[in-house]
Amino acid sequence: MAKILIVEDDIGERELMAEAVRLDGHEPIAVSTCAEAREYLNQDIDVVLLDLVLPDTTGLDFFHEVRDLLPEAVIIVVSGKKDQEVVVETLKAGAYEFLHKPISVEELNIIIARGLRYRVWEKKGYQSMVDSIRKIVDIIELRDRYVEGHAMGVAKAAVQLATAVGLQESEVAEIRIAALLHDLGKLGIPEEILNKDGPLTEMEMAEVRKHPQLGVEIMERFLTPLMREAILYHHERWDGSGYPEGLKGESIPLPARIIAIADVYHAMQSDRPWRKKIPKSKVLKFIEKGSGILFDPELVKVFLELNR
Ligand SMILES: [Fe+2]
Repeated sequence: MAKILIVEDDIGERELMAEAVRLDGHEPIAVSTCAEAREYLNQDIDVVLLDLVLPDTTGLDFFHEVRDLLPEAVIIVVSGKKDQEVVVETLKAGAYEFLHKPISVEELNIIIARGLRYRVWEKKGYQSMVDSIRKIVDIIELRDRYVEGHAMGVAKAAVQLATAVGLQESEVAEIRIAALLHDLGKLGIPEEILNKDGPLTEMEMAEVRKHPQLGVEIMERFLTPLMREAILYHHERWDGSGYPEGLKGESIPLPARIIAIADVYHAMQSDRPWRKKIPKSKVLKFIEKGSGILFDPELVKVFLELNR
């Protein structure tokens, strides 16, 4: 049984939908305005049937509100609007389906059932994807004896920081994958450079600096825009001294700024060919000193609170 929030001002349509989902074994909560609906947006709602034109809203503002507060719910827009542009805009913004009035009870129940199945598969799909990536990354890390467990460590710290600064669950999920894959491009760097005992020459450094770009090229078709930016820019620095583009401050995408801190935090606490691991307290001091120079000062503040 799913909990279904019905937001519809037309009493006839509202009662029809409530009855239809009840007969299908679900629990309907039927309201006629955004104000009433808002009281349920902090509950575990599985499906939202949402009319776009309500007495206290028009357009997509309320749709966005629902999507942000109920990121896991299946949102089905029910509307009398025949405007194709609105349909496309709603689907782009994350609606599962768009239904035109008058509603067919059968069609409604089929779409709800399909939406609920999709939600279960989406979750399972994400988990099995993360598991597969972890296995691949474990194998890659065997090439470089110094980075064992690095991807996992960075993912853990990045997810913690992203959650603490209030990013949406779906964004945190993408950051986890990007963090696991952030150094994938090192596959394209010769092993003798990765494992060299001693400082790298300018030319070798230039090779290493290609890894963010190589990483996104390898995974191009698989990455979402957020993941792509997070991987490509994880070595950019707040003052513009990073690579590959020398981006500065907030022009560095937020997910990349998050992974940058998590990466340094984990890397400094691991042995490297040219140095032993550095104790956590010293690493945190380094990150604190780098606030506003290497790293986003707001993120550093939150990161230090989390890890002290
Ligand atoms: Fe890297």
